[in-house]
This record gives sequence, C-alpha cells and structure tokens, in this order.
Amino acid sequence: MITLSVIKADIGGYVGHSSSHPDILVLAEEKLMEAKKEGLLVDYHVTRCGDDLQLIMTHEQGEDNARVHQLAWDTFIAGTELAKKLSLYGAGQDLLADAFSGNVKAMGPGVAEMEFKERPSEPVIIFMADKTSAGAWNLPLYKMFADPFNTIGLVIAPTLQSGFAFEVHDIKENKKIVFNTPEEIYSMLVFIGAPSRFVVKSVHHRETGNIGAVSSTQRLALIAGRYVGKDDPVCVVRAQGEFPAVGEVLEPFSHPALVEGWMRGSHHGPLMPVAIEQSNPSRFDGPPRVIAAGFQLADGILIGPRDMFDDPSFDEARRLANLAGEYMRRHGPFEPHRLPLDEMEYTTMPQVMKKLEGRFTNLD
Ligand code: F6R
Ligand code: MG
Ligand code: MG
Repeated sequence: MITLSVIKADIGGYVGHSSSHPDILVLAEEKLMEAKKEGLLVDYHVTRCGDDLQLIMTHEQGEDNARVHQLAWDTFIAGTELAKKLSLYGAGQDLLADAFSGNVKAMGPGVAEMEFKERPSEPVIIFMADKTSAGAWNLPLYKMFADPFNTIGLVIAPTLQSGFAFEVHDIKENKKIVFNTPEEIYSMLVFIGAPSRFVVKSVHHRETGNIGAVSSTQRLALIAGRYVGKDDPVCVVRAQGEFPAVGEVLEPFSHPALVEGWMRGSHHGPLMPVAIEQSNPSRFDGPPRVIAAGFQLADGILIGPRDMFDDPSFDEARRLANLAGEYMRRHGPFEPHRLPLDEMEYTTMPQVMKKLEGRFTNLD
C-alpha cells in the first residue's frame, strides 16, 4: 500500500498574496529531500499555487501519520522563518497553532491523503486552488464521477457502470453522510449545491470500494473562529481504468464555475484553470485559480508532473473566466459578487459592524 499525502499552507506571499517566493520552494525541497534520504518518504514534489506552498509526498506510513505530518509542520515552520527574513507578506499566515500536536489537520494547513494499492499504471491528478474555499471541488467532482454529460465512461465503460459513492461532510455541524450515485444524485445535490457548508470529502468506486478522489475540507475560519484567509483547497483524483479517464477528470474545469473567495475571501468569482506558472492571482487578488499537476506513480515514485492546464484547449475557459470575472466585478460591493451576509460572518466585516452597533436604532 502507498499513501499519497498533499499537505499545504500559505506561509507567506510574494508580492502581497499573489504568489510564492522561489527561495521558500527551494527550502521545502531540501527538507523533503532529507526525509526521503532518511526513508520516511518514498518520493516528493514541491510546488505552489499562488501564495500556497504545496508538499506532495508518497510514503508507506498510512494516512494521518504523525511523522509525515510533523515533517510538513516543520517544513512550514522553517519556511515561515525564511518568509520573515524576506519580509514576505503574511508570513506564517496559515499556522494557527504554536506547537505541533500529532496531526496538522486542525492546525491550519490543508490536508488531502489517500492510501491505496498502486495499480500497474497509476495516473493521478492533483488539483490545487488559490483564493477559494474547500467547497470549490463539489461541482467538478460531481461532474467527473456522476455526470454522464461530462464523463461518457459512466455510459459506455463497463468498469464505471456501478457508479460512485460520495462522502459528504457538513463542516458546520461536523457530520458526514455517504450518497450512492447515480440513484441518489437528487438528494446529494440538495447538499453539495451549497458548497459553503457541505463539502465532498472523498469518492469511492461502489463495486471495488477503491478510493477515486479525496479533498481537503479544512475551513480555516471555522478553525480559527475568525477570518484568517481562504482555505485554498487541494484535491487528489485517480484516473483511468475503473475511474474517469484523465480527460474526463479535467473536463469539468472547461467551465470556470463561480466559487467563493477572491478579494478578501469575500466574493464570488470564476475558478480559472491555469498553468502552474500562471497561478499568480493578480486582478482584484484573483480571479481564483486552479492548477492540475499530473503524475504517473511508479512504486510510489512521482513521475512528473505534467502541467495539465498548460494547454490551448483551456484557453476558452480562461477567456470565459475573464469575461465572467469582469461581469461580476461590475457589481462592486453588491451581492451576488460580494458573498451573502452569513458567509461574511467569516470575514473582517463583523469588526466594522461592531463599530456601528450603537448607531442602529429601532424602527417604529
Ligand atoms: C484572499 C486574500 C487576499 C487578502 C487581501 C487583504 O484570500 O488572500 O485577497 O484578503 O489582499 O489582505 P490582508 O488583510 O492580509 O492585508
Ligand atoms: Mg496569503
Ligand atoms: Mg492562498
């Protein structure tokens, strides 16, 4: 069995919240290289999406392993020290705990991990997003694993016909439920169509029970009890064979769906698929970005990455994202560009409201 762990954190932006400084990536690379030499990791790849440092690791320690989590935490701490030296913006922003306590999950970093038996050929796509939150994967995961208009394999490939089981988390009430698709898609959509609260955590093949996808579901604001930036989630998807083909996995992103995030984590905007190099949210701190790093696993070694959105077939999605972004921007501070009030609860706005509290008087 091999475990693929993606652990990420924003430990400092360059410039502002727009991107990452190359020295931080070099430092993280050194830390993970050491861990590989010591035998803790089978392999690793360090990358970034916007201002988020992404540690992609394979190992044989299983999910939620304290040593692997400690390695990620120590790497983020070392990165934060360097970020402070370089006076990067918001150094250590996502590290919400003072000291490591066994698992980074509730400490700020985003985590997506899956343990599985590697197939003779194992294509995996790692999606990473910036300036958006955990629910951003709901729509694409639904399309990949449950929508025949996206995934023709559901219709014509015998290996996919039994459908997929979606584990959905209610991140406000801390509950979970499993929906079997296709027969329960109507009920499931009631929930996952509200991605600020209900988040697809994982997807399993119903016949083999094998895991097809896992996402990070940490919501920073809920952990911290106040606004500390958006979650900037990650999602790992296995492709081909009993899972959607690589092209079916990428296809949902040809439509730049509106997600929450963007400027000050307080707006709806289109999720723009871009090449890794282009994941530098600039206009109005956005629009939100998604990158896709493709790998072939070979006994746990990460062969890759291939930069999957670095392709002209996503040009129109990017153009549409710019048009949709422009259309949304024209609303300025008005909803539905600005998030609805109950979501604004997790931004800096409550402080402004507090200041004006005494000014409100009763209507007759
Ligand atoms: C959104 C984001 C940025 C910041 C904005 C203000 O997720 O990271 O849009 O919210 O640049 O940043 P601060 O409050 O750090 O000055
Ligand atoms: Mg940031
Ligand atoms: Mg970020």
